[in-house]
Amino acid sequence: MGPSGTGPWESVPVNAAGPQTTGTVGSARTELDTERQDGAFHRVGGVEDPAVADFVGLTDVALRSRREPEQGLYLAEGEKVIRRALEAGHRPRALLLSDRWVQPLSLLIDRVVGAGGRVLVGEPGVLESITGFHVHRGAIASMHRPVLPSVERVLAGARRVLVLEDVVDHTNVGAVFRSAAGIGAQAVLVTPRCADPLYRRAVRVSMGTVFQVPWTRIAPWPEALGRLKESGFVVAALGLSAQACDLDRFVLDLPERLALVLGTEGDGLSGRALCEVDRVVRIPMAGGVDSLNVAAAAAVALWAVRPGA
Ligand SMILES: C[S@@+](CC[C@H](N)C(=O)[O-])C[C@H]1O[C@@H](n2cnc3c(N)ncnc32)[C@H](O)[C@@H]1O
Repeated sequence: MGPSGTGPWESVPVNAAGPQTTGTVGSARTELDTERQDGAFHRVGGVEDPAVADFVGLTDVALRSRREPEQGLYLAEGEKVIRRALEAGHRPRALLLSDRWVQPLSLLIDRVVGAGGRVLVGEPGVLESITGFHVHRGAIASMHRPVLPSVERVLAGARRVLVLEDVVDHTNVGAVFRSAAGIGAQAVLVTPRCADPLYRRAVRVSMGTVFQVPWTRIAPWPEALGRLKESGFVVAALGLSAQACDLDRFVLDLPERLALVLGTEGDGLSGRALCEVDRVVRIPMAGGVDSLNVAAAAAVALWAVRPGA
């Protein structure tokens, strides 16, 4: 699956002829179905409609980042990502879509309704006035945010773990999860100030793998790294200091359980975190480039340290 997304995680595409159909003919709905009075379907009035409260002002990152965890929700965009959230056992609150997507997404609608979610249908212009952008991935779902598991639970059975210290960019967080799932980390731990893996953009960039890879917040930071060591992990920082061990030397003697700690985009790892780790490992750089993007560094290192490499 390429980074542009040609694999099984891709969203339902829109083409000039309109949306492609993915549902079975047998369960396809007509527009009239959206007028059903069974309680699951609701025709959206406008931004004042209380039914759409979960979806108001999606372009305000600061507001949404605060409100969504407070209100116990997150958003998933596009048929495949929403389906992936449902398959992970997450419960839907509501599915928002325009009339033209009701039939192509009939299977998804059935699953959302079956899992207790409401279906909110409206004109594209009305949806745009609510969300702040054109809902071009067919549908957006608001989901109940799952309770985060304990660090111990997340680490159980894991051999390769990524730890993200204060990574602030949702795109980077999503890309790290995609690499964790695709290359093979069995857990991701994020510090209290790290960007939310369940924020809309992180979910989308991860292609839904934030629902697949076990993760939780680790606190207090960085003292809690001691819990990984007690569980038998060697804790290695990925860092750029001159004293660091080169990655190709480090992989010559790989530990059974390994946690790789990655730093924030601008400043890299904090001095306090570096004091808590067992090793510092560097990916040698060329071409006058001083460092990699944090998600790229995670992918390179994960591949190099895969068990049996
Ligand atoms: C963009 S880098 C931060 C660069 C920052 N100036 C520094 O000195 O760490 C973000 C994180 O990616 C990881 N990283 C990037 N390039 C790396 C490399 N060549 N070797 C090891 N880790 C690297 C480190 O964990 C780093 O904290």
